[in-house]
Amino acid sequence: MTDDRTPSASSATAPDGFPPSPGGHDPEVLRRRALDALLTARARTTALTDSVDEAELTAQHSPLMSPLVWDLAHIGNQEEQWLLRAVGGREALRPEIDGLYDAFEHPRAARPSLPLLAPAEARTYAADVRGRALDILEAAPLHEDGRPLERAGFAFGMIAQHEQQHDETMLITHQLRSGPVALTAPAPPEPTDATSLPAEVLVPGGPFTMGTSAEPWALDNERPAHQREVAAFHLDTAPVTCGAYRRFMADGGYTDPRWWAPEGWDMVREHGLDAPLFWHRDGGQWLRRRFGVTEPVPDDEPVLHVSWYEADAYARWAGRRLPTEAEWEKAARHDPATGRSLRYPWGDTDPTPEQANLGQRHLRPARAGAYAAGRAPSGAGQLIGDVWEWTSSDFLPYPGFVAFPYREYSEVFFGPGHKVLRGGSFAVDQVACRGTFRNWDLPVRRQIFSGFRTARDA
Ligand code: AVJ
Ligand code: FE
Repeated sequence: MTDDRTPSASSATAPDGFPPSPGGHDPEVLRRRALDALLTARARTTALTDSVDEAELTAQHSPLMSPLVWDLAHIGNQEEQWLLRAVGGREALRPEIDGLYDAFEHPRAARPSLPLLAPAEARTYAADVRGRALDILEAAPLHEDGRPLERAGFAFGMIAQHEQQHDETMLITHQLRSGPVALTAPAPPEPTDATSLPAEVLVPGGPFTMGTSAEPWALDNERPAHQREVAAFHLDTAPVTCGAYRRFMADGGYTDPRWWAPEGWDMVREHGLDAPLFWHRDGGQWLRRRFGVTEPVPDDEPVLHVSWYEADAYARWAGRRLPTEAEWEKAARHDPATGRSLRYPWGDTDPTPEQANLGQRHLRPARAGAYAAGRAPSGAGQLIGDVWEWTSSDFLPYPGFVAFPYREYSEVFFGPGHKVLRGGSFAVDQVACRGTFRNWDLPVRRQIFSGFRTARDA
């Protein structure tokens, strides 16, 4: 895999700026990776939608979420639009349903009342599209001088990522639903370090390469690679834990406006917030509900289901701040030994189960300090997987950004309304997670698998 060098040393950006020159990428390797990524995504989609009955598939479990059956047919419809029509040049299979599954036409809360495909129809549609997409993949020329959508198998990688993103969305719906347990998974690995980790690491000041022009399936907002100057700072070695967060709560964190951004304080008062989402007090104990199971809140696990406002307030209470997005990426990718930015904290190789908690292998984050094999050169751990990490940064384009292949993936969300999250959660598949991957959401959102770590100036 071509790595990202400083822009002066890089020839990775094609003259048209996008998509990257996949120089050195073997089309047959990428074809196999695309097939594998599509099959992995579909197995997960099937598990998420076969684990509940028809009534639960069509129900709205929360006004924040679509019915699961909407996600299922939307996955198929996006695949039809990009792989069958745009890449394959095929006629529309069911042009009349495009509008139903256009996320911009109907807000989530309105989706249950649409004439959606019934579960059996949605399954058949998605399977029919998939069969045709695999035929197209088999024959598509994925080489460098091909059409931009096909180069390096970009459209196939994009659609596999899209399906995995909706699988994470569907897992959030599972977390919001009530009723009997539908999903189970083994516990994540325990920390193995005998010695206790330092609370924070020092990231020295200086420039680093942010973003990528070389990663074949990086999405438009991750591009292009560019230099960023980042002053020295300290960063938490691990995400903030439930135990640390409870100290903030016990110290009156939710009752003192000093710690809160004004809109955050409004949110606390309007909704009477006093804890992360899914937590409740039972006598002297804090319990949480997790995929249908009620259990004591574990002190040493990264805190989950907090909004940006809660993360920001905690950091201020702790005398610290959230890291900027550039700080986060430098701590995760910059290798001072070579001056390069790595694809992942541990290097350029794809994640293994020893390095990161990804792919819904587990239904919770691992305890702080786990995944020693996944640490970055900076010494910080659990940057990839476990919990999405809020940063202080607004979601903005990098210099030289070009929307591709559609403005509605990233561009329409740029601006001060959305905050960037980094690193991915236990619910993210590796195809949709890397050191450069950018997620974003509204600062009030807390149903997502969000946590955070804190920083301070050096
Ligand atoms: C990047 C996770 C914010 O789910 O809204 C899915 C991904 N875009 N379909 C979302 C996405 C179009 C997006 N996020
Ligand atoms: Fe989508």
